[in-house]
Amino acid sequence: MNAPDMTSFVAWRAAQQALVESALSAWVPQDTPAGLGDAMRYAVLDGGKRLRPLLALATCEAVQGHRPAAMRAACALELIHAYSLVHDDMPCMDDDVLRRGKPTVHVKFGQAQALLAGDALQALAFEILVPGDPEMPDALGARLCRLLARAAGADGMAGGQAVDLASVGLALGLAELEAMHRRKTGALLQASVTMGAATGQPSEAAQAALAEFGACLGLAFQVVDDILDVTADSATLGKTAGKDAAADKPTFVSLMGLAPAQQYADTVLCRAHDALDRSGLAEPGTLHALADWVGQRSS
Ligand code: IPE
Ligand code: IPE
Ligand code: MG
Ligand code: MG
Ligand code: MG
Repeated sequence: MNAPDMTSFVAWRAAQQALVESALSAWVPQDTPAGLGDAMRYAVLDGGKRLRPLLALATCEAVQGHRPAAMRAACALELIHAYSLVHDDMPCMDDDVLRRGKPTVHVKFGQAQALLAGDALQALAFEILVPGDPEMPDALGARLCRLLARAAGADGMAGGQAVDLASVGLALGLAELEAMHRRKTGALLQASVTMGAATGQPSEAAQAALAEFGACLGLAFQVVDDILDVTADSATLGKTAGKDAAADKPTFVSLMGLAPAQQYADTVLCRAHDALDRSGLAEPGTLHALADWVGQRSS
């Protein structure tokens, strides 16, 4: 990407992040029983890269899709992601105390409230996609719900998280590790692209190419997450560095070492760019830029 393109991508990203922030703030309730909304808002607002929403919105733009539906999809994806982080950080999972530069939700609000905040964020994600709203055509809402449910469930994020926890202390092979990463992180990132695509009418070939782009981007993203856990510091990450080795988790770094893991991420990102090139979309530039960002990010 050349310099002027990079400037406009950074401006686009900041503008969309601000729109997503205000949409999320409007959706996540404050007025709830027993302060549950406070824990929900703490988990979702003011933090994170918002990569999943950005992918959904950029894909919607690339297919000239239905923008209000895409903004709802973007928020729903981020709500599922935020819920997954709240639960991922709990003592029964990764037992982390720092997330997005702040104490984790269970540290701040207690374990029961964190569990319930995650539950409620997940329910809210589907509520905002529910058909019947004037901003969301019925058939599209149903389609988006299905895509999100599949990505979040047993064959997606939740299943991948189960494998992650069952793999502590094990030396997974490449195929097993890849399968775990594709589920626990890749599925929701791929859904970000396929949900964005569903807001428009791309050709079947374009849909297949976008699905491949999302799958490659999602896998590369978790490989980079494994790398950053080793190479970055906690202040930059906004979460505790070095946790994977301390918890004896199998990662791409533990499997192959740092430099080959970086090379692997680069190779998979090249496949993502190739898939986009095959998509036939008129303006895939923002999606290319998001893939570059995934590879170059420092947090
Ligand atoms: C962190 O995701 C958890 C993983 C799926 C690896 P992000 O790195 O996207 O976290 P935020 O949303 O920017 O905080
Ligand atoms: C988490 O993976 C993936 C999720 C589904 C939340 P990690 O456990 O590696 O994520 P971080 O490093 O805590 O953000
Ligand atoms: Mg985890
Ligand atoms: Mg974790
Ligand atoms: Mg990690």
